[in-house]
Amino acid sequence: MAVPEISRRTALGLLGAGAAAVVVAACSPGGGGGADGGAASLELPAGGAPLPAPTELRSAAGALDVDLAATPVMVPWGSGQRYALAYAGSVPGPTLRVRPGDTLRITLRNGLDVPTNLHTHGLHVSPEGDADDLFVMVDPGGTHSYRYEIPADHPPGLFWYHPHHHGEVADQVSAGMAGAIVVEAPETPVGASDRVLVISDPRIGSDAAALAVSTAEKQMGREGDVVLVNGAVAPTISPQAGTLERWRILNACASRFLVLSLSSGRLTLAGTDQGALDRPVELDELRLVPGQRAELLVPVGTDPLTLRAATVARGGMGMGGSGMGGGGMMGGGSSASSSAGSATPTALLEVRPTGTGEAPAVVAPTPPARPDVSGVSATRTVTMGAMGMGSGQFVIDGRSFDAGRIDVTAALGTVEEWTITNVSMMDHPFHLHVWPFRVVSRSDGAPDPGWRDTVNVPAGGWVRLRIPFADLAGTTVFHCHILDHEDLGMMATIRVA
Ligand code: C2O
Ligand code: CU
Ligand code: CU
Repeated sequence: MAVPEISRRTALGLLGAGAAAVVVAACSPGGGGGADGGAASLELPAGGAPLPAPTELRSAAGALDVDLAATPVMVPWGSGQRYALAYAGSVPGPTLRVRPGDTLRITLRNGLDVPTNLHTHGLHVSPEGDADDLFVMVDPGGTHSYRYEIPADHPPGLFWYHPHHHGEVADQVSAGMAGAIVVEAPETPVGASDRVLVISDPRIGSDAAALAVSTAEKQMGREGDVVLVNGAVAPTISPQAGTLERWRILNACASRFLVLSLSSGRLTLAGTDQGALDRPVELDELRLVPGQRAELLVPVGTDPLTLRAATVARGGMGMGGSGMGGGGMMGGGSSASSSAGSATPTALLEVRPTGTGEAPAVVAPTPPARPDVSGVSATRTVTMGAMGMGSGQFVIDGRSFDAGRIDVTAALGTVEEWTITNVSMMDHPFHLHVWPFRVVSRSDGAPDPGWRDTVNVPAGGWVRLRIPFADLAGTTVFHCHILDHEDLGMMATIRVA
């Protein structure tokens, strides 16, 4: 159970990379988008400002009521402002903190000029009624009241909300519509701080035209101009030396894969999408694909350190497979850690400790009880990809999304084993709503402990999952979490009854 204290070493040469670490792209891969004018007109702000924290809204007496207006906004950007789409006027949206057993009510007001709706990614809540129903559409000017009953045995962890209106998802999420949901543990919090780090990669421009993307970029999966943490360029935190930091990290990028590392040495991973691991694991680096979350424990001594991210080349339409071959979620200790296809890491977050104190030992969060998945009642194969090379078809089991069709029917109260196969030449992160799963094996052999709702399926590879459909009947979806691929049809329906 004990995890050795992570080694501390000074990362000479990495510190002070600061503002230079994140660079506005001169042009986007795939090119031809409408971003050029907007991006060129706005300077990249200097890094190093204090880490912004989104507004926190906390449940009281078992309930949290949130009024969430979706609107275009101008957000501060250096000495100027940039155009974004936001919840409650901020990018990222407010952080919602709830507890197992709470009722979360969200009134969504659509102030955009296109339809939208809301999804609570990773929450084990009903897909029906006024809860997490994907088929709700809120027209411009319209309102919808969502009501989510969070089960009393819900695993604590980091979840998130974002729009899910088919065809608009990548546009809206990449423009800023995303926020964190923390399901808090009943126990005393681990660590002196509990920080939520929402990673995004928006297009930067002074008006809506900056957000336009080409068909080629959509097929590849759009990547924005700059990688931000809570909306800021390489921000700084100044914790007290001698304390343990707990970071809950969300990859809210529409398409970008991130490989995270710490300048001080190895990472201590304490939780995945669905909360705490049975025990923390140490990694050289951590791959976080769009939609995934990770909890890191970071002991702080007196030495500064940097959280860094490298971007992964994801393969492409007829460009050959991913250079990483998948790599599972962990780069550490395997050949995947060589990160072929990763660019040089850039600084995401600078840690500048204050005062004195030795880096403390890691204290692990308590893992929640998990469903029994030892008995499997049905097995199934799901195939992601390609109806023909470079055809621009994004399909599951050879079919494009149709909200009027039921693709998979599963029996409530059973456990199924799914093999997700990727027959295309790009990686696709598979995501299932409502029912979290356990990864039991992968074509690349990489270990993948913990519970997830999103997992990368490498180009030409497969991932095998056990999914307990123990409760919560209803109809929802599974899809690729490269949101452009989802919008292009790489999504299917599932009815559990
Ligand atoms: Cu985060 Cu169906 O999505
Ligand atoms: Cu989801
Ligand atoms: Cu995809």
